[in-house]
Parts: sequence; C-alpha cells; structure tokens
Amino acid sequence: ITVLVDKPTAKVSPNMWGIFFEDINFAADGGLYAELVKNRSFEFLSPLMGWKEVKHDGGSGSTLIINRGEANSNNPRFARITVKSASGSYGLENEGFRGMGIEGGKQYNFSVFARQNSGATKIKIQLLGTDNKILGEAALQNFTDQWNKYSVSFNSTATDAKAHLAVLFEGEGVLDVDMISLFPKDTWKGRPNGLRADLAQKLADLKPGFIRFPGGCIVEGRDLANRYQWKKTVGKVEDRELIINRWNTEFSHRSAPDYFQSYGLGFFEYFQLAEDIGAAPLPILNCGMACQYNTAEVAPLDQIDPFIQDALDLVEFANGPVTSKWGKLRAEMGHPAPFNLKMMGVGNEQWDVQYLDRYKLFAKALNAKYPDIKLITSSGPSPSGAQFDYLQKELRVQKANFLDEHYYQSPDWFMQNASRYDGYDRNSSKIFAGEYAAHIKEPKTAKDAETMNAWISALAEAAFMTGLERNADVVQMASYAPLLAHVEAWQWRPDLIWFDNLRSVATPNYYVQKLFANNKGTDVVPALMDGKILAGKDSLYSSAVIDKTNRQLIVKIVNTSSKPMPVKLSLQNGPAYGKATWTELSSANDLDINTLNDPQRVYPAETALASADLGKSPLKLKPKSVNVIKVS
Ligand code: AHR
Repeated sequence: ITVLVDKPTAKVSPNMWGIFFEDINFAADGGLYAELVKNRSFEFLSPLMGWKEVKHDGGSGSTLIINRGEANSNNPRFARITVKSASGSYGLENEGFRGMGIEGGKQYNFSVFARQNSGATKIKIQLLGTDNKILGEAALQNFTDQWNKYSVSFNSTATDAKAHLAVLFEGEGVLDVDMISLFPKDTWKGRPNGLRADLAQKLADLKPGFIRFPGGCIVEGRDLANRYQWKKTVGKVEDRELIINRWNTEFSHRSAPDYFQSYGLGFFEYFQLAEDIGAAPLPILNCGMACQYNTAEVAPLDQIDPFIQDALDLVEFANGPVTSKWGKLRAEMGHPAPFNLKMMGVGNEQWDVQYLDRYKLFAKALNAKYPDIKLITSSGPSPSGAQFDYLQKELRVQKANFLDEHYYQSPDWFMQNASRYDGYDRNSSKIFAGEYAAHIKEPKTAKDAETMNAWISALAEAAFMTGLERNADVVQMASYAPLLAHVEAWQWRPDLIWFDNLRSVATPNYYVQKLFANNKGTDVVPALMDGKILAGKDSLYSSAVIDKTNRQLIVKIVNTSSKPMPVKLSLQNGPAYGKATWTELSSANDLDINTLNDPQRVYPAETALASADLGKSPLKLKPKSVNVIKVS
C-alpha cells in the first residue's frame, strides 16, 4: 500500500464519527439516566406499576392514586398514603428497572415531594438487597401541609445488582407523596439528576464528533400525540410530562410493558452531555409525521406551524440570549452560555413523499431565521428502492445540506459497499450516515444478549468505514446505531454498548468505532494499491489520514480474508518519520463477542513499530483484522 502523504484530497469534518442516542433498550430510563426508581411519579399507564404494597409489624394502611387534572396537567397523579395503625409500618416498595444496581460504600440520595394532610407521618427509607437485607436506611419527618421536596442521603453497606427500595410510612395520618426518587451521588460529573458515570464515560472515550438525539423512531412516536416534544423535556424535572415509550411492548423482542419516558434525561441534559464530551449537538425533531411502522399519521400541511415553531424555539433554547424566552429557561436551568447548536435534523426515516412538502416548509422557516443552522433531511434506509431514490433526488434538488442514510445490512453488504461514495457527485448534498450496523443471522445456539455483536459484524463495518473516511468531503458525519442496550430489557440488536445494572461492556463494534473516531485526523490522503483505491481487492480495505495538528499519519487497513496478509506500507514524499505504533483488533472466530462476564475477548492490542522498517519489511496482518498504523 502506497500512501501519498503530501497529497491531501479532502478535509475530515470535525464532526466525523459521532454517536446516535435513542431511548431504546432502556438506554435512558433504566440506563444512562441514573434514576433508580421506576415510575417515580405514578404516571405509568398503571399507576402502581413497579410498586408493591408492604406491611410490617402489624402496620396497616392504603394507597389512593389521585389525579389533579388541570391543576398539574404535566404531572397529574400523586399517591395519597393513609396509615391506619399507630404501630408498625405500611409502605410501598419499588423494584427499580430490572432491580436497582447499588454499590457498597457509595452514597445514595433519596428525595420525595410530600404534603401532610392529617396526623404526623414519618417516612422510613430502606434500601434492600436481593436477600431483603438492609443495605442502607434513612428517615424523613415533619412534613408541612404544603407540597415540598424533602431529601436525605445514606450510604450503602454492600454491592447488589438487584436491590430494591422500601418507602415505609409510620404513624397514623394521611400523607400525599409524589416524585419518589433515588440517585447515586456519584453520577457523571457529580450532577444532580445526572447520568450513570460508567456509561457516560464510555461515550466520552469515543471522543465523538457529534451526538444525535433523541433518536430514531421515538422522535416520530407511535402517533403524533406520543411524539417526542422537546419542550416537555426541559425545565423542572417534576414538571416534565411522561409519555409511553415508542419501544414499549409492541415492538419488543423482550417484553417491556413498563417502558416509559420520564424525560428526566431531556434536551437540556443532552446538550450538556454533548458539551461535556466535546461532541456537537445534533437534535432530530418531529416534522409532523408519526412512525411509519406504527400509525404513520401525518399532520395536515395547514397545521404544521407548531412543529416548525418547536424547531425555531429550539435554536433559541440552545443559542439564544438569556433575555429571550427560551434562552432564559436555559440560563435558569444552569447554563447561561449558549450550547452552540449548528445543525438540526428534520424528521427521522420519513419514507413517504409527503415528507417533501413538510421539509420545504421547515427549511423555508429555518433558513429565513437561522441561515447558519444546517439541516439534516431524512431519506430512509439504504439500499434504496424507487421511492427512496425519488425522495433523495428531490431533496438534492432542494439543495438539502445533508441526507441521512440508514443501513442495517449484512456483513457482506458492508464489505461490498466500501466504495459506495467513491463516485458520489461532489456538488450534491452531503451525507450523514446516521444509523448503521452490520446484522448477522442469529446463531441458533446463542444465549448471550450480546450475541449479535459478533466480531464479523465489526470487521465488516470497519471495511465499510474506510470508504466513509476516504470520502470525507462527502460523508461528514456517521454514527453506529443503536448505542446502548440493557441485557435484560433490549428491543433491538446489535447495539454498541451493553450493560446491566452495575456493569457495561464495549462490543467489538465499539472498538472499531473508537479506533476510527480516536484516529480521525484532519485530512484524507490517498492509500493506493497499484495506483488504485483499495476497497476489497485481495480482501483488503484501506484509508489514510494525516493529522496536521499532531503531525501524524494514520493508516487503516482491514483484512477481511481468513488468511494472514503481508502488506508493505510505503509512505511517499513524507517528512522524516518518528515513533510508530500498530494497533490490531482481531479475533479467532467470526462469532466471537464481548460479554459482561468476558468483556475483552475482542480487544485492541498496540505494539511499537520501528518506523525505519516501514516500507522495508511487510506488516503481517492477521486474518480478519482491523489495523491502525500511526506514524509520528
Ligand atoms: O436504531 C433503531 C431504529 O432503527 C431507529 O429508531 C430507527 O430510526 C431505525 O429504524
């Protein structure tokens, strides 16, 4: 392979290699969002889902769910607890999201909104282990007759992945409670209402160029009433209106009747996460069309204005001055500085031609008010049929900034399509490869949730990604999808990161993403074999970049054959070379996976190379391997 080090062909977009976040597979509630109490505000369809009544030592009482209706339409329900016995306790136990992951020696923060109606009630809080042993406890009392938030902290004495929480009421009286919450103190960056630190760290480690949120199909909703509306996800947590998750049971391979969106992780938190991990925020908004897999409802064109207004207001929320309505809310939430929003998606996977009219109205309004905001259009999955070709053609005529292409295809498809953008019209809309993952056939003997993230899928994605990298002038953003999945609550596989209540594991696909994202460079340079692009010849795929800031050359070579491949790397017209490293990612079997119990079966290994040897002695690439050679 000859690398023309001094012949850059394209700039690598600073937004290249991002992440796609969707609340699917318990990614938000029960996952990244660190809240441990499920159905904390009694707003699930069954108000006591996740809760069960308990009585101890002769205690007795009852729970009545009251709906405030208009008085608090965002969070209408609360629980009225009547304790009928002078001794003993009556209470509610919360099961958490498939249990609560609790770490020994760590602090947990409990809070509740409460109002004393009569008598004097005391709340005893107990964190209970799998065996019902008390892991930590605390108490609250002296509630007033007005709604107030009460908080208390305690430490856990032991680690338990399946703990649960008992909220016990003592002393005759009537107490109203709402927003019963338990968070670990050690959230990501120690923020209240924060994120699970291990998961956020895995996202940060990718050094993503952007984060797309909040999905996916949940942007669209099953019907328009249940679409994602960002305005319902900002402001005080207790005022955010919960909705049923689009991935609730109906579309679940694993039953998830308890899948709702509390919106505790809302647009403010997404923007904050983006800032924390150095990723450009990329919100995707509903364009007046519900999910094509469900009702496929559309808002009539003469009723599309509120959807467009949401988009305009979002720019103000992210970037507007603190004197503006939405900028003020951002400041009140703790972020007076703008979030620097530069792009926005209009719709997700809208495959119907009705999309075109809606997109045009969005584009007209947004371009008029915010000409610097780049718009991402939806254009459906690939490879595309006639309808999608038509949509794409029309969107190009509209001079859409970005077309969002989604590919969930076989490993073979990925390898065969490494040249997909080599002949792309350089004057046309740019490409956002917004969702992709190689899907294998499910092995019959598969037991582990992580099974579909087999090595062969990651290898195929790497081969394809050399083609995305080589065409950096066209493909300016790309993200694997979906991102996160709970091993006991997934609806879609494969996924980039798997987790249970305490642990998380990076898949082979994650390491491929990381190798590309951490080595994205600043400019593409040609990597040629016999003067030609290398996209499958002898089962080899290659792309190369230079990093002008760090003065490095980075060559990626993917060997998809089952044989070792000797490859001589010749670096033409470069400066003098210094230190060199070779990172190899490979595995003996196509179906090898990383699991929570065996997290590093497929794991990158780095060795030092004598750069003087490059070009003299060939590198012996392992069979089925991804190789990153970095030369200073
Ligand atoms: O990534 C899972 C789903 O795949 C997304 O929600 C949707 O956009 C696509 O169909």
